[in-house]
Amino acid sequence: MRINELFPYIGKIESESLRNKTEKVIEYALRGWNEKDIKNIPFTLLVETEINLIDHINTVTELSYSIGLIMKKRGFKINMDYLIAGAILHDIGKFIEYEKKGDKIVQSYPGKLVRHPVSGAGIAMRFDLPVEIVNIIAAHSKEGEFVKRTPEAIIVHHCDFIHFENVKAL
Ligand SMILES: [Fe+2]
Repeated sequence: MRINELFPYIGKIESESLRNKTEKVIEYALRGWNEKDIKNIPFTLLVETEINLIDHINTVTELSYSIGLIMKKRGFKINMDYLIAGAILHDIGKFIEYEKKGDKIVQSYPGKLVRHPVSGAGIAMRFDLPVEIVNIIAAHSKEGEFVKRTPEAIIVHHCDFIHFENVKAL
């Protein structure tokens, strides 16, 4: 499966080196999953939902991208490459946190010990992504209350909750 079909906004990352590193992180995180299952992973196990993880990641990426452009227009310094890569990778650790058991998706043992913001940040560091992107991944959830969020991380954090809270409200 082509990564840019799963995550079309990857093509909007201007830096080729960053695009390649982002793909490496995705390939690594997805290595234990087959093509059919990848599209059937729920984006959260906290609420009942039909919305899958790939769709959630793409929704958060599109929301973040639009807001990034608006903020840039207003003079805020937003690194769009960091924003796009960080949004695409913010939940990449969920491919480690979750596993398939029978026909169900459940939290894995590694996922019980290391939540996805931490495992995702770990994978990003392993592939030498900039620390600003590691910040977006590590700080997108409540873990981010203990560190400084960059402007790009603030955007992804809120877009993540915009989607999550709206799904919860359905
Ligand atoms: Fe998310």
